[in-house]
Amino acid sequence: MSKQYIDPKEIATKDLHQFIIGGIAPRPIAFVSTVDEYGRENLAPYSFFNAFSSNPPILVFSSNRKVSDNTTKDTLHNIEMTKEAVINVVNYPIVRQMALASVEFPRGISEFEKTGLSTEPSTVVKPPRVKESPMNFECRVKEIITLGDKGGAGHLIICEVVGIHIDSNVLTNGRIDPQKIDLMGRMGRMYYVRASGDAVMEIVQMVNAQPIGYDKLPGHIKRSDILTGNDIGILAAAECEIPVTSATPEDTQIEELHKMIKTSLTEGNVFEAIRLAFNGA
Ligand SMILES: Cc1cc2nc3c(=O)[nH]c(=O)nc-3n(C[C@H](O)[C@H](O)[C@H](O)COP(=O)(O)O)c2cc1C
Repeated sequence: MSKQYIDPKEIATKDLHQFIIGGIAPRPIAFVSTVDEYGRENLAPYSFFNAFSSNPPILVFSSNRKVSDNTTKDTLHNIEMTKEAVINVVNYPIVRQMALASVEFPRGISEFEKTGLSTEPSTVVKPPRVKESPMNFECRVKEIITLGDKGGAGHLIICEVVGIHIDSNVLTNGRIDPQKIDLMGRMGRMYYVRASGDAVMEIVQMVNAQPIGYDKLPGHIKRSDILTGNDIGILAAAECEIPVTSATPEDTQIEELHKMIKTSLTEGNVFEAIRLAFNGA
């Protein structure tokens, strides 16, 4: 691996932006509905976005000054006026309409009309919800933090969630099912990721019990040409007593042994893999 060093002060903002959005990815997309001081609705996607607190429930997104002309965006203006927003999630069935809503329509033009998405009244805030989105967070804006005054500078919009609506069809046993909600993530340039199907993987990592740890794995495992970093990660994460009768295999046995460990890991039999790693075949 050979890495290039980049001094963010030495490259153009548009290039820096691409390195940031390509590397900090995939990002969830806040599809933000707001109204202006005249009650006119607005809808725009923001992927400089995440959840930052569960109690109180806080979501934050950033509306940036445009790099091209240093102007600010309608969403920021509306929030400065009304201190309210709805953050609608973006799933696969509405991803193209979401992309269309990012067009710079003149202030006062409703992206609901331009995209064909439907409004649905909120319970406690004025901005409407996106009916087709499977989950809507009604928010009051607690604070806006301005990060700079040049093109590309963000405004952190700190939102407290005051109401949540969720489509019961995306739930399995009362929890959000990634295969049903089918969310989209934003990457760099024109790339998106669809977070369902084979893109979803399960990693069960208990955080209360102490795992074996990489440092306690046998040397031949750490030096393996057959086991990958992920294989070693699974072995190091196993929560079990380190087998006391640790045996060192002969050099001629190692390749075969590591293949057997890999097979056990592929079959999900971590304890057999651990037994082999410490005691040999
Ligand atoms: C998927 C996606 C994510 C975006 N994320 C951001 C973002 O985090 N911050 C931002 O300022 N603009 C972002 N944009 C661009 C805005 O959506 C775009 O400038 C839009 O016209 C702003 O609308 P408004 O003026 O109605 O607020 C994003 C665009 C897309 C398609």
